[in-house]
Amino acid sequence: MLQFPSSPKIGRTLLAAASCVAAFATPLTTHAQAAEGHEAEIQSLIDQMTLDEKLKMIRATSSFTSGGVGRLGIRELVMSDGPHGVRHEHGRDMQADAHAEDRSTYLPVGICLASTWNPELGHDFGNVLGSEARYRRKDVILGPGVNIIRTPLNGRNFEYLSEDPYLSGEMAVGYIQGVQQNDVAACVKHYLANNQETNRGTVDVQMSDRALHEIYLPAFKKAVQEGHAYSLMGAYNRFRGQFATHNEFLINDLLKGELGFDGVVISDWGAAHDPYQSLAYGLDIEMGSELKDGMAYEDFYIVRDAKELIDAGRISEDMIDDKVERILRLMYRIHKLGDQRRLVGEFNSAAHQQTARKVAAEGIVLLKNEGGLLPLDLSGVQSIAVIGANADHKHAEAGGSSQVPALYEITPLQGIREAFDDQVQIDYFPGYAIAKGKKPSRKLRREAVKAARDHDLVIFVGGFVHGYDNSWGGNAFDAEAGDKPDMHLPFGQDELIHEVSAANPHTVLVLYGGGAADMTGWVDQIPALVQAWYPGMEGGHALADILSGQVNPSGKLPVTFPKVLEDSGAHALGEYPGGDSVQYKDDIFVGYRYADTYDVAPQFPFGHGLSYTTFNYAPELHVSTADDAVTVETQITNTGDVAGAEVVQLYVSQENPSIRRPAKELKGFQKVFLQPGESQTVTFTLHQDAFSAYHEDEGWVMEPDTYRLQVGSSSRDLRASAEQELEAF
Ligand code: GLC
Repeated sequence: MLQFPSSPKIGRTLLAAASCVAAFATPLTTHAQAAEGHEAEIQSLIDQMTLDEKLKMIRATSSFTSGGVGRLGIRELVMSDGPHGVRHEHGRDMQADAHAEDRSTYLPVGICLASTWNPELGHDFGNVLGSEARYRRKDVILGPGVNIIRTPLNGRNFEYLSEDPYLSGEMAVGYIQGVQQNDVAACVKHYLANNQETNRGTVDVQMSDRALHEIYLPAFKKAVQEGHAYSLMGAYNRFRGQFATHNEFLINDLLKGELGFDGVVISDWGAAHDPYQSLAYGLDIEMGSELKDGMAYEDFYIVRDAKELIDAGRISEDMIDDKVERILRLMYRIHKLGDQRRLVGEFNSAAHQQTARKVAAEGIVLLKNEGGLLPLDLSGVQSIAVIGANADHKHAEAGGSSQVPALYEITPLQGIREAFDDQVQIDYFPGYAIAKGKKPSRKLRREAVKAARDHDLVIFVGGFVHGYDNSWGGNAFDAEAGDKPDMHLPFGQDELIHEVSAANPHTVLVLYGGGAADMTGWVDQIPALVQAWYPGMEGGHALADILSGQVNPSGKLPVTFPKVLEDSGAHALGEYPGGDSVQYKDDIFVGYRYADTYDVAPQFPFGHGLSYTTFNYAPELHVSTADDAVTVETQITNTGDVAGAEVVQLYVSQENPSIRRPAKELKGFQKVFLQPGESQTVTFTLHQDAFSAYHEDEGWVMEPDTYRLQVGSSSRDLRASAEQELEAF
């Protein structure tokens, strides 16, 4: 019987103590330690600065730099987007001291990375990004994006990770440490509750403390306390009436107070709106571009009235010193100050491209595979029709600020041709045009349906695109500054898929995109269905690896795919997109937490993903308790005839909670790679936080109760369970 302290107060103290221990239990990275040894130098630099010099450090000096103090040897801080690749040179002409070439490694997008459920791969991903940023002389790379995926319509879901806070946090930690080991600061964004693009610059998000602490804060908390992120980006939206990027509660009280964040808060571009609040409510550097904000950098809010506010006694110079201290600490952590022994970084290396391919191959999700159509068996196949304009479309340079000037981008058609055209005849038919407002072309559709009839096999590559062209935002589908109009596939694809699969039952459907689509019109007639997300520059090769069986798929959905929009918590219970404000009435019931609690069957559940092999879970779970931990053991065996990887997921449920809790919550996962016939025991160690819920009046509380522990292959494919009485309070 697991004994926890007898009173909530002690319990919380323990928990608080535990979290503090956890904060320092994870060894600080060598860089963080490096800064710790320079606090005296930091203070000395500040003591030598004039107020004007301090003020220049806390504002932009170009669209992607903030001020330095040349006479003290402090160079400008250089930033760059984005979360899955180093963006074009922007603002100050960096060609002089950056490498001339502007092309870079275009990694798969965040939701594809999360679909790998492989934190080590997250670290490799971050390492590539940090290495390329370093090579391009950047000090801060503006990623990862960790906002919770609340609605399938959010235009930037592709840049984020998951609907689940635990998975988001676990994937973010490796990414951050991978970036920062290259002497580059990660900038975790967008803090906090930037879960839609509609009215993003003004919408006032209203949510309960419980939703904040259980759903929207945890990934940022883990990024700070375990990832040791050196910077965070303040979001555009308001939170409970104040702009998030200068918000007394979110930043001063929560982030820098309770969570102990000692890094830099950088505003989103143009996200600051008030001189006093910019200085008093936690913002450290105000960014934006003169053209966009119509202001000269010297007039940015954070500096505009600083001297008057100091003279009036409303702001102290110490507040400004604290901002400068944080900026200097970041500079020491990335060795921009101090020994200045900075790594050189690599750019467009074969190793980076291999990582891109590996992340894509592990992130692609096999959703359906009736009759074992995949992996493709081409014996007896003479011809393949590749149908769908997405087969020949490139995505790297669209989507908004996360755009990447990719050195190259392998399209699905290229990947398929390279993999199979020595075995079969491959013909391509666009089937539809990626064009704004045009009626679907009857000619293209007729050609595609005829091709389906005339070829032995069809690979249909459809889905979404960022925008209609490679323009900045596109505001059409998966892009910044706008949300999707609905969950339907664009360009008349629903009808085309229906007709193509009717013409040829041997149709494999591959979807590109940042999340769920409404598949109700055709999903039952498609035997094989693959979710490819936006898989980066090596996406076409990775897709061919999966279709051919070179790689056994192991991706798992990091989001629920609801059948229709109304089956999503934000739309069934909550408000979206709201008006001046948006009420998160869905509260904690986001994604599977809604679907499983309200018993709404999804199209494909959170954590779902098939393999070309099979995995057996031993029927019994071994649960043991000792001190302040519950240990759960399960055995997995690869019972098929090909090697494969399984993501073993652990969900916890409380039987009789005093407050309403989700039907189950993800509290652990492990990806295991097994040869045919190989077995492995997977062990989870759970602490009090895995059983606790956030009570509005008391905070985190673990109640004495019966807890159900379930392990399985998805949130709705649970293979073994056990119940455990836990005497907590
Ligand atoms: C954008 C985005 C942010 C990006 C920044 C700089 O508006 O919201 O993610 O890093 O501005 O481009």
